[in-house]
Amino acid sequence: MKKKLLTMLLGTALVLGLAACGGGNDEGGDGGGDTAQGGGDAEKIFTQKCSSCHGEKLEGGMGPNLQKVGASKSKEEIAGIIENGQGGMPAGLIEGEELDKVADWLASKK
Ligand code: HEC
Repeated sequence: MKKKLLTMLLGTALVLGLAACGGGNDEGGDGGGDTAQGGGDAEKIFTQKCSSCHGEKLEGGMGPNLQKVGASKSKEEIAGIIENGQGGMPAGLIEGEELDKVADWLASKK
């Protein structure tokens, strides 16, 4: 009797454990985007919104080369330019989290 109960408890624990693991994995998938904050996401956003003027590899085009923009500008300065525009650069192309990610990523280009 006691043994049976123990087995049941163990079984339940196992099922729960597996379910918890499954859930954890799902969250891990979602969190994966966050983990890639440095490159992936920012790069994708840049390709979509900015590369038409600055080039896919930041090499410049209609806009200036940004390959070493982090050497002369801080993340705040870069975010300010993206937010407010500058010269031929339109303001407000991206905002919020996207703006933050891209500014951070560009500031690391030195
Ligand atoms: C319509 C073309 C165009 C698009 C789209 C564009 N830019 Fe620009 N960008 C420019 C031009 C032109 C300048 C130079 C502005 C000036 O100083 O006269 C510039 C300047 C900059 C600068 C300052 C570089 C420096 O050394 O002074 C940064 C940073 C920048 N852009 C980032 C971005 C980001 C990030 C995006 C996408 C969200 C973007 N740009 C989209 C045209 C563009």
